[in-house]
Amino acid sequence: MSRLWATGEVLFLFVAVLQVIVMLRQYAFTAVVLGASTATGTYWSGWHGRGNPWQWPGPYPSAGGWWLEQSQEVLSTLYSTYWNGTYWVEDPSILQWAAAVVNTFVIDTQRTFTTAISQYNGNSHGSQVNAAQIQANIRKYYSDIETFYTSGEDVNQIFDAAYDDAQWVVLEWLEAIKFVNQYDAYSKLSFGQEDVAEFAHRAHIFYNIVQNQFNTSLCEGGLTWNPALAPYKNAITNELFVSSSIGMYLYFPGDNNSDPYPSTTYSNRTLPPLPYLKPHDPLLLTNAKEEWAWFKSHNFTNAQGLVVDGFHISDGQTTCDERNEMVYTYNQGVMLSGLRELWEATGDTSYLQDGYGFINTVINSTGWNANGYGQAGQWAGLGRNGIMEDYCDAPANCSQDNLIFKGAYFEHLDLFCEPLPTETPLVKGLTYLADQGLANSHAQKCRSYAGWIQHNAYAALSTRNATSDIIGEWWGASYVSPQSLPLTPQNPRD
Ligand SMILES: *[C@@H]1O[C@H](CO)[C@@H](O)[C@H](O)[C@H]1NC(C)=O
Ligand SMILES: *[C@@H]1O[C@H](CO)[C@@H](O)[C@H](O)[C@H]1NC(C)=O
Ligand SMILES: *[C@@H]1O[C@H](CO)[C@@H](O)[C@H](O)[C@H]1NC(C)=O
Ligand SMILES: *[C@@H]1O[C@H](CO)[C@@H](O)[C@H](O)[C@H]1NC(C)=O
Ligand SMILES: *[C@@H]1O[C@H](CO)[C@@H](O)[C@H](O)[C@H]1NC(C)=O
Ligand SMILES: *[C@@H]1O[C@H](CO)[C@@H](O)[C@H](O)[C@H]1NC(C)=O
Ligand SMILES: *[C@@H]1O[C@H](CO)[C@@H](O)[C@H](O)[C@H]1NC(C)=O
Ligand SMILES: *[C@@H]1O[C@H](CO)[C@@H](O)[C@H](O)[C@H]1NC(C)=O
Repeated sequence: MSRLWATGEVLFLFVAVLQVIVMLRQYAFTAVVLGASTATGTYWSGWHGRGNPWQWPGPYPSAGGWWLEQSQEVLSTLYSTYWNGTYWVEDPSILQWAAAVVNTFVIDTQRTFTTAISQYNGNSHGSQVNAAQIQANIRKYYSDIETFYTSGEDVNQIFDAAYDDAQWVVLEWLEAIKFVNQYDAYSKLSFGQEDVAEFAHRAHIFYNIVQNQFNTSLCEGGLTWNPALAPYKNAITNELFVSSSIGMYLYFPGDNNSDPYPSTTYSNRTLPPLPYLKPHDPLLLTNAKEEWAWFKSHNFTNAQGLVVDGFHISDGQTTCDERNEMVYTYNQGVMLSGLRELWEATGDTSYLQDGYGFINTVINSTGWNANGYGQAGQWAGLGRNGIMEDYCDAPANCSQDNLIFKGAYFEHLDLFCEPLPTETPLVKGLTYLADQGLANSHAQKCRSYAGWIQHNAYAALSTRNATSDIIGEWWGASYVSPQSLPLTPQNPRD
């Protein structure tokens, strides 16, 4: 096995599992806190023979304190292994978009910890949580996030990359703004507020790259993946356009800084001033709605309902006539945060319905609903034995891009499943409130995913190396024979 397998792949996986665990917070923390202990042995150890093992959520199904502790440990190992004080270090060096996504996971984890201490406050399980220590950690990690902003992120490189890369940066700094606002609502301090204008400026610079790129000349719309290559209208770039556009509409505070350069050292090109973009500009909502309508009307799903990678346009054609059937995990999820926010902005529940549909398809495609051991162990489209897998996990030939896909899936599922607001709008004067019935049904649907999520989190934790604490990439490895590899539907993206 290559060095990349030994270290590189696990970085992303590590973050991915953190994200899975982190998402359990909303549904687990009110349950009884069991004593913390360390899981040992293989995935199956501790299974008491009740129910189907491929649906087993692990030994701590509802122990919020235990999962919180695991999250802290995973994050701490991530830092001690891969953070050099300014940057994520990897061999070979980390891809810029992936670094942006890792930083987004770190930011979202701080949001999760903030939710945890707010929920535990004054609650009977509060004794399990040392809120002061968690707050100290939040402040420490926040200063690393600031360092990554000022001295880590290689904005020059990513500025000239593809249209998907730019949008990960947009989502990254929007999450940072959301974190600051969430933390300050809890702490009643103005912690981090001095950074918001800068975060907004970076989100603006990178959104400006794609803002006007929805182009109807080919395939009646959509964005192309990379303007430097032949047009490829792929799922990720277009899902990101839903999520980044609606995220900008709701959470971007406006930016009057007209400096168009990603950094003071950028020298590739001379750029016109960055146009002013006001908060809640209707253009942003239009972009998100138009993009989702286009995505839905251009069959991006295979017979099983899984999102495929994208469409090429053959020579001399203007329609999306050549589909790449490859299925990746992140393509099933990155639109989810956008769909939820489209509901926030419009009150139209069809966006939520679309989201539930995609999530159910994914869960089923891991073999979760199998009717017996034999079927559970067979490749079901996106995994087996109830555990999510990318095609490259089992043969251990993932590219560095592939390695972070499952993490991105779970992050966006997490954002989708945040409780719907019933009393205080998320953005005053702009977002809708859910009636109690809708809020309950959303919570109930999301709670119904919790067993599957915990099953995946526990499987991932079971791959942890006891010496290094690093988690493996193929979460279901411990009970699948290496001979039974899935067949890849088409050679990965060209
Ligand atoms: C961390 O790694 C990056 C990328 O290799 C490097 O540019 C930077 O100087 C390193 N920072 C420290 C504090 O070693
Ligand atoms: C611009 O500069 C970056 C490094 O700062 C380089 O990686 C990239 O290829 C350049 N892009 C173009 C289009 O020249
Ligand atoms: C739209 O796409 C067509 C075909 O690729 C291209 O020629 C045109 O310049 C694009 N329009 C814009 C506004 O980018
Ligand atoms: C930006 O400038 C415009 C025009 O001067 C002004 O109306 C607006 O309030 C400013 N917005 C921000 C966020 O500073
Ligand atoms: C989308 O394409 C798949 C695969 O060709 C097909 O099975 C499915 O019926 C199509 N869906 C729609 C809505 O056309
Ligand atoms: C769910 O997955 C099972 C196999 O695990 C399959 O037999 C079944 O048809 C799937 N159901 C749906 C609705 O896709
Ligand atoms: C990875 O290995 C599998 C099994 O050998 C093969 O089918 C697949 O094409 C390989 N994928 C890549 C990206 O090399
Ligand atoms: C576990 O980590 C240790 C220390 O980094 C390493 O030497 C060992 O090879 C790892 N074990 C496996 C199975 O990867």
